[in-house]
Amino acid sequence: MDNKHKKYDVEDAKMVLQENDLGSYICPTKDMYPHQWLWDSCFIAIGLRHTDPEKAKHELLRIFKSQWKNGMIPHMIFEDRSQPRSFISHFKIDTGKNFWNSRKISEAPDNFATSGITQPPMLAHACLLVAEKLPKKDASAFLRKIYPKLLQYHEWLYRERDPDSNGQIALFHPWESGLDNAPAWMEELSKIKKPFTIKLIELLQLDNLLGFLRRDTELVSSDQRMKTSEALHLISIAHKLKRQSYTSEKILKNPKFVVESLSFNSILIANNRYLTSIAKKLKKDIPDELKRSMKVAEASIELLWDDSCSQYCDRNYLTGKKLQTQGISALLPLYAGVLTKKQASDLVKMLDSSTKFKSKFPIPSAMKSSSYYNEKRYWQGPSWINTNWLIIQGLDHYGFTEEANTIKHKTIKMVEKAGFYEYFSPKTGEGYGSPSFSWTASLYIDLINS
Ligand code: GLC
Repeated sequence: MDNKHKKYDVEDAKMVLQENDLGSYICPTKDMYPHQWLWDSCFIAIGLRHTDPEKAKHELLRIFKSQWKNGMIPHMIFEDRSQPRSFISHFKIDTGKNFWNSRKISEAPDNFATSGITQPPMLAHACLLVAEKLPKKDASAFLRKIYPKLLQYHEWLYRERDPDSNGQIALFHPWESGLDNAPAWMEELSKIKKPFTIKLIELLQLDNLLGFLRRDTELVSSDQRMKTSEALHLISIAHKLKRQSYTSEKILKNPKFVVESLSFNSILIANNRYLTSIAKKLKKDIPDELKRSMKVAEASIELLWDDSCSQYCDRNYLTGKKLQTQGISALLPLYAGVLTKKQASDLVKMLDSSTKFKSKFPIPSAMKSSSYYNEKRYWQGPSWINTNWLIIQGLDHYGFTEEANTIKHKTIKMVEKAGFYEYFSPKTGEGYGSPSFSWTASLYIDLINS
């Protein structure tokens, strides 16, 4: 097929989802990410509901099956099948089930190997949207089934991750934000004492030389991925969490990375609202304590406002210091839906600022003025379809219909021209990362249908 002139469409998007369908779930992309990821599955279900709502429902139900006994929903669920490993693969960096070793943790589920951290809590929104497409009886059975589990998850977030009860959840690892190497995280990590080996790699500039340790750069050019030293640093933080049994109490006694994330908290605030809608549909009452936490959370987004840069920021939980966000998170309070119209319109101005997020192919994951900005490098510049989708929802919510439609149509066009890539150049629209990425395909289907 001559891909140069091809215009991709919904049928092609469906094929990507079929390709990545591993039977009991749809993975982000078969070769690079063969497991199930929490927020990926939410986005996958949101698109899939238009073509196969029953399958979309099962995509989400499998996520709930992996819930920990304490309520946490993990960010990765590992596939059961064990793949044959070549001799060389034993030397590769591995963040699979043996790395997380959840079966050693009593809170972990008995039937699934999972990671020990979570990811943006998009579940309530995804469940509501999927339920809309199910036959009435199935929809209410589905919502009844997931409701107590969702409650437990949101309760876990406020109980375990909001130690000072200020309404802002703290993350223990950049992976929990889903924006793995966002500028704010890399800036924060540069202040944390690094393991000696990582310092050595940086000092001797061994980054490229050590590329053979990685699986991702076998599949995608290394200039489109994070640096090896960055990846190793993230892995070393996860190792420490494992030594602390992924337990908040232990982690907070000897913390490394504890950050109140603007994007995660914005997503949680919106999903508190969707959880409340599910409760209303089922004629149930949200437990009082959770209701109180949700209320505090809504007002607490203002704790992340920073006058000196006139924008919302992430915040270091341990020092209380704001982090120079410089990334797409700055726009995500739009999705939270708790800003005044004036505050929302200030964020819209950032979308139109050529030093910030204005670009031919929306929306860059880092501000163009950021020293980290690089149109190819993962969460440090490229445009991603899931964050576009969240921002479109936010713009619509505040009545910025024209702005929402512009981003929507540009996103659709970009995908139709380049294909279902993982991320895209905000300058040229060229696709980067994996060429068959599930959430790009599914959210394209959703944007076409909405
Ligand atoms: C990367 C992304 C994360 C995503 C995962 C699976 O880690 O940063 O957001 O969930 O891949 O696609």
